[in-house]
Amino acid sequence: MTDLVQLTKTDGIAVVTINNPPVNALSAAVSAGIAAALAQIEKDDSVKGVVFIGAGRTFVAGADIKEFGGLTSGKIICRESLKPLLMRIEDLGRPVVMAIHGTAFGGGLELAMAGHYRIALSRAQVGQPEVKLGIIPGAAGTQRLPRLAGVAKAVEMCAEGAPVKAEDALKSGILDRLVEDDLLAAAIAFAKEVAAKRAPKTRERNDKRGTPEQNAAILAAARETARKKQRGLLAPLAAIDAVEAATKLPFEEGCKKEEELFTKCLFSDQAKSLIHAFFGEREVAKIPDVPKETPILPVNSVGVVGAGTMGGGIAMVFANAGIPVLLKETDQAALDRGIANIRKTYANSLKRGRFTQQFVDERLKLIRTTLDYEEFAHVDMVIEAVFENMALKKEVFSELERVCKPGAILASNTSSLNIDEIASATSRPLSVIGTHFFSPANVMRLLEIVRGAATSKEVIATCMQFSKKLGKVGVLVGNCMGFVGNRMFGPYRREAQFLVEEGASIEAVDNALYEFGMAMGPLATGDLAGLDVGWRIRKENPHLQKAGLRRAFIEDRLCELGRFGQKTGAGWYKYDENRKPSPDPQLAGLIRQWTAEAGIPQRQISADEIVDRCIYTLVNEGARLLEEGIALRSVDIDIIYLNGYGFPAYRGGPMWYADTVGLKKVCERIREFQQRLGNWWEPAPLLQRLSEQGKTFAEFSSRQGAAA
Ligand code: 3HC
Ligand code: NAI
Repeated sequence: MTDLVQLTKTDGIAVVTINNPPVNALSAAVSAGIAAALAQIEKDDSVKGVVFIGAGRTFVAGADIKEFGGLTSGKIICRESLKPLLMRIEDLGRPVVMAIHGTAFGGGLELAMAGHYRIALSRAQVGQPEVKLGIIPGAAGTQRLPRLAGVAKAVEMCAEGAPVKAEDALKSGILDRLVEDDLLAAAIAFAKEVAAKRAPKTRERNDKRGTPEQNAAILAAARETARKKQRGLLAPLAAIDAVEAATKLPFEEGCKKEEELFTKCLFSDQAKSLIHAFFGEREVAKIPDVPKETPILPVNSVGVVGAGTMGGGIAMVFANAGIPVLLKETDQAALDRGIANIRKTYANSLKRGRFTQQFVDERLKLIRTTLDYEEFAHVDMVIEAVFENMALKKEVFSELERVCKPGAILASNTSSLNIDEIASATSRPLSVIGTHFFSPANVMRLLEIVRGAATSKEVIATCMQFSKKLGKVGVLVGNCMGFVGNRMFGPYRREAQFLVEEGASIEAVDNALYEFGMAMGPLATGDLAGLDVGWRIRKENPHLQKAGLRRAFIEDRLCELGRFGQKTGAGWYKYDENRKPSPDPQLAGLIRQWTAEAGIPQRQISADEIVDRCIYTLVNEGARLLEEGIALRSVDIDIIYLNGYGFPAYRGGPMWYADTVGLKKVCERIREFQQRLGNWWEPAPLLQRLSEQGKTFAEFSSRQGAAA
């Protein structure tokens, strides 16, 4: 036996324990360990039943994803299929009980389905999340699951990848029994109970495979949903094709079809990008100079200053995580408005079935209000979310300095301002940090955590840790105007405007980027966020405009006309009372008039040029942020763009995308733009260097990581 798989025997029941921390991933070595355990059981007639269980915090959470990366990059030449191993389990001739706690995901659920019975802790979850990695189940999951749970459930699980709670899995027939605790003892008892029975093989079951008519309807509906909800992704459709094979073909042939589809997905750029995103999300939690052992400060209560759009959302985020919140405003009317918005948001979630009434009631009880700073004396952390104005922010922080207890974390939700200057309003810059939530704060997963020059490691480690507790992806960034996300977004949106100034229609610009995979086009995004925000910043900070560089002017004109976007019913588009956009022909005429007055030559612009110009501005600015050390690694930028800016996950983020295209090609295209359009297109020095060296941003980042 290996250390990864142990075999013990109790009362004629063999117990196979998989022990591959942290998540018992089914690596090649674990498979070899299971094969060795099976070999012993096969020759031991005294074994009347078998239990498989995971050591530590979970059952098997899937195949080892690192091995997939190895395979597609060519570092691993060949990986043995899990299928024959699972067949051996199913054909063991003795009942096999799979004992599940934590998560039985992907290959873990496939392993469980090869057993004859499944018992689970009621807190466990099962799922086939492979689509989230751009692949499909590859060890007969698409063939056994419909036989066990029915075609509709299997299609849903394989194409959407969402986890299924144990209770639901019991109802669907995936699980046979739930227990509250002492899983191993219950599984051994179960194995003894069924030892004399004929073990049912999942692959031989036909009772849930449905009729051709029923299946055709289920599959057609699933394909339609996948095309809409997982736009641009190949794996969900491949997963549906594989389940369809299970409805039509014998098991072995269905498995062959699954393998064909699995291999195609695994070697796709989409899978590589999504696997990059999976590991990237975990990588960003690792800060080279803030070790894992850094002490974490308690955050058992928080104060929020400002109950506007962001303050209200932030209050809900903490309340949803069970942390009491004290919300402060300047006057009762503003507080009432803030609380009314919070109630309205919860009511919507209730209507959509996201939360129960009891959950909402409990969360609302956690949000208390005040008009008085003195009440902040006892909170562990305060997040300031007042207007984006330095003088006001400093005023708030000097109040916090006065009332907050020593060691309390003082955070600002500023989206662009200098954290060090805000910290200078206190005598404790060690405790000051930026926590930049994205709007709507209760929905968006991204949390940019902004490190000031003096911010302590404990404060950083605490914010990084609680971001996970809040259901967010925390990414640490350095302090500069706009930090990482917004500093890149500025030139991206400016380029979109330039394209309109040069003759592209508003819809052509937005459509090209939507087709590229962005959740929304850049101009529609401006309308959603409010065009007036940037307009005010530009008016208040004329010094930010670099001399001699072209300046976009249409949004300023729109704002002068009172067209602030969705909130005023018009911006780049017209909006009806339900905020449904439509093109505004009158505006198109105005724009042609303005550009003629400005003497900008008009021309046809291709979708390729629109995409390259907008996306490569992101890449070029990203390269500067990387070289300046504002972003720790290129993957940090990718995770920010995937979680905060609607960049398509199947393209892995802007920096990964550029690496995929090839930095030489990207740099050449940028040089071409520089020659044709102007000097704002000067390639970033890092991009130039890497392109000359034939390297990638990822390689640069890993070298930086090693040096840190
Ligand atoms: N393979 C390799 N490493 C894995 C892994 C996997 N399947 N799942 C998790 N890990 C690693 C993570 O990278 C992380 O490593 P790190 O500590 O070095 O950063 C560590 O395990 C812990 O993971 P999390 O931080 O995500 O821990 P959580 O407790 O928050 O979540 C989890 C646990 C719910 C299991 C989550 O990790 C998860 O969803 N994992 C992926 C599950 C999955 O996609 N399974 C399908 C794999 S593909 C497959 O099975 C194909 C098959 O059909 C053949
Ligand atoms: P908002 O205008 O909706 O709300 C600000 C609130 O602060 C108002 O309700 C105001 O009454 C209150 N306020 C002002 N002074 C106060 C004081 N001294 N004490 C208590 N309350 C006070 O603004 P919004 O959009 O919520 O922005 C807040 C901060 O979040 C800004 O720094 C902004 O840049 C940032 N941000 C905004 C995002 C957005 O999309 N709206 C996204 C990310 C960050």
